[in-house]
Amino acid sequence: MKKKKNSSGSTIESIMKETRKFPPSKDFREQAHIKSMTEYNNMYKRSIEDPEAFWSGQAEKELDWFKKWNKVLTWEPPFAKWFEGGKINVSYNCLDRHLKTWRKNKAAIIWEGEHGEDKTLTYQQLHREVCRFANVLLTNGIKKGDRVCIYLPMVPELVISMLACTRIGAVHSIIFGGFSAAALGDRINDCGAKLLITSDGSFRRGKRIPLKANADIALINSPSVENVIVVNITGLEVKMKGGRDHWWDDVVAHESTMCECVAMDAEDPLFILYTSGTTGKPKGILHTTGGYLLYVHVTAKYMFDLKEEDTLWCTADIGWVTGHSYIVYGPLSIGATSVMFEGVPNYPRPGRFWEVVEKYNVNIFYTAPTAIRAIKRDGDEWVKKHDLSSIRLLGSVGEPINPEAWRWYYDVVGGGRCPIIDTWWQTETGGALITPLPGAMTLKPGSASRPFFGIKAEIFDEEGQNVRSNQGGYLVITKPWPGMFRNLWGDEERFKSTYFSQYAGIYFTGDGARIDKDGDFWLMGRIDDVVNVSGHRIGTAEVESALVSHLAVTEAAVVPIPHEIKGQGLFAFVTLKKNTEPDKALKVELLKHISKEIGPIAKPEMIQFTEALPKTRSGKIMRRILKQIAMDRVDVGDTTTLADPSVVDRLIEDRKNL
Ligand code: PRX
Repeated sequence: MKKKKNSSGSTIESIMKETRKFPPSKDFREQAHIKSMTEYNNMYKRSIEDPEAFWSGQAEKELDWFKKWNKVLTWEPPFAKWFEGGKINVSYNCLDRHLKTWRKNKAAIIWEGEHGEDKTLTYQQLHREVCRFANVLLTNGIKKGDRVCIYLPMVPELVISMLACTRIGAVHSIIFGGFSAAALGDRINDCGAKLLITSDGSFRRGKRIPLKANADIALINSPSVENVIVVNITGLEVKMKGGRDHWWDDVVAHESTMCECVAMDAEDPLFILYTSGTTGKPKGILHTTGGYLLYVHVTAKYMFDLKEEDTLWCTADIGWVTGHSYIVYGPLSIGATSVMFEGVPNYPRPGRFWEVVEKYNVNIFYTAPTAIRAIKRDGDEWVKKHDLSSIRLLGSVGEPINPEAWRWYYDVVGGGRCPIIDTWWQTETGGALITPLPGAMTLKPGSASRPFFGIKAEIFDEEGQNVRSNQGGYLVITKPWPGMFRNLWGDEERFKSTYFSQYAGIYFTGDGARIDKDGDFWLMGRIDDVVNVSGHRIGTAEVESALVSHLAVTEAAVVPIPHEIKGQGLFAFVTLKKNTEPDKALKVELLKHISKEIGPIAKPEMIQFTEALPKTRSGKIMRRILKQIAMDRVDVGDTTTLADPSVVDRLIEDRKNL
C-alpha cells in the first residue's frame, strides 16, 4: 500500500478511500423482495441455524420437482449431497414450466449480434429449439452422463445446446471461444467428450476468428469425439470431415420439436467448467443438478431483486461461470428476460453497451470492473448520449471494484439512482456468496457487503482462528451450500488438497478479505498464484508452462502487476537457452506462442529476459521478490535467503531499461 507524508509529517494512506455510504432509496426498498436489514437478518439467521429447513423450503417453493427428496443434506466433508432422492430437470425448470403460464410467449432470450442484428426467442420458441437439438444429441448417440463440449461464441445456439444437454442428462463443458486449439484439446481429453459443438468462426471486433479450424487441430489428438456439430455464423470456409462433422442447420431440420425431459437425480452431474489453478493443469469444476439450480435461482432472485417482468443483461461470456449462472440458468428458471450480447463494449463505437441498454430497456445491468474502467476512459459523453432510465440496478463481478470506478458507475451510468451490487463468488461456488441485497443493505463502495443466505463466511488466520474486525486474513466458508461444486472432474485428490486441506473440512477460497466493524466484507484479492486479468482467472503456472514449452526458453516466472484497465496484468521473467538472441522479435514470438498454447487472454503485458531468476538455496523461485521488481520497485525486501542475491540487482537494473 502506498504511503505519503501529510503536512504534519506523519504517514497517511494515499490510496483513495471512499467513506460515503449509500442506503437503499425508499422507492427501491418498497418494491424489493427483501426490504430491510431486519428482514435480511432474520432470514439469514434462520438459514444458518437450520440450513436444511431453509433450503428445503426454498427448493419446494422455487423449483418444480418430479419427485421430492428423501434427505436435504448429507455432509461428509468435503463431500456434500443435496436433495438426495429428489428428481428434477433443469431444462424443465427453465422452459417447460413457464409454458403453462403467461410467460409462454414472453422473451426468454434477446440476442444482440455484434453488428446490431437481433433475435428474440420466447420461452415457447426456445423450448422448441431446445427439444429439437436434444433430439439431435440423442440421434448422435449421446446418453445421460455423456460429456458434450461446446466451443461457441455468444450465439443463441450456445444456450440451446446447454439446455438440450440438461434435457437429456448429458454433461456440458463449455470452452470459452477465446481459448486456443491446445487449450480446447486438453479440456476435451480431460472430460472425454463424445461430441463437440462449435461454429465455423466467431466475430470479434469485425474480424472473423476461425473456431472450426482450431477445433480441427484439437481433434487430431482427441479420439473420444465421435461427432462434431458446426453452426454456420461467419461464412468462413471450413473443412468438414465426412461422417464426423455435420452442419447444425442440416441436423436440426429432421428432428421433432418434442423431446421428453429425463428425470435427473438431484446429485447427477450438470456441467463441468474448467478454471485455472496454481498448477499448469486446469481444473474441471463439477456442478450437479438440483443444488446448483436452486442456488442460482435463489441468488438471482434476491441479489438482482429479479422479477419475471425484468430484463436482465449480464455482459459476461457464457464461457465463464458468470454467464452459466446469470445469463442462462438463474434468469430462465425465474422466467425473466435475459439479454445475450455477441459483441464487446466499445466496438464499433465506445457507446455500444448503452445502445443495447436503450434498445431493450434493460432493467438490471451486470458487468465487470474491467469493462467499467475501459468505458470510463472513453468519456462520459458516450454514456450520456443514451437514455438509461430503464436501469434500476447495477452489478459488478469478477474482481474487486475500486471505489473510483464504483463512484463513476453509480453517478454516470446509474444517474445516482441505482444501487450497485458488488458480488463476490467463484466458478467453484456456483453463484454469488457475498453480495449486497439491494433493497436492504447500505452500500459502501469497494465492499461486497454480506454473506448470502446459508453462507457462513469467516476470515481465518494461519492457525484457523477468526481474526479481529478489520484485520485481513483468509476467506473461508465453513458450512456447505447447495451451489457448491462437488468435485474436480477425475481428480478427487486435488479437490481435497486444494480446497479442504488448509483447514480440515472447511472450504478455502484462495482469496484474502477483512470484515469491518459493521460486519461488511472487503475482498483483498487472491492469495495464491492465480491472477485476475480483466476478471478472468489465470494461473501463473499455466503461462509459465506455456513459455517453457517454447524451444528458446529454459525457465520462466510469471507474476501479477497492477493494470489500469484490466485490474491486474501479467509480467513474465524469462531465461533463454544459451546462444539465443534476447531480442524484440523473440518477445513477439513468445506472445504468439502463449496465444497458441492458451489464448490471447493469457498474454503478459511485459517480458523481461534474464540470465537467472532469484532462487532460494533449495532452488525455489522467490516470486515475492519478482513481484516487487515487476512493479519497478527498488526495495524488494529481504534477499538473504537467496542462493545468489546479486541476481536481484541485475534484475532491478534491467527492469529500469525495459
Ligand atoms: O479473486 C476472486 C475474484 O475472482 C475469483 C474467481 O474467479 P472465477 O472463478 O473466474 O469467477 C469469476 C466470476 C464469479 C475470486 O476468487 N472475484 C470475483 N468476484 C469478485 C472478486 N474479487 C473481488 N470482488 C468481487 N466481487
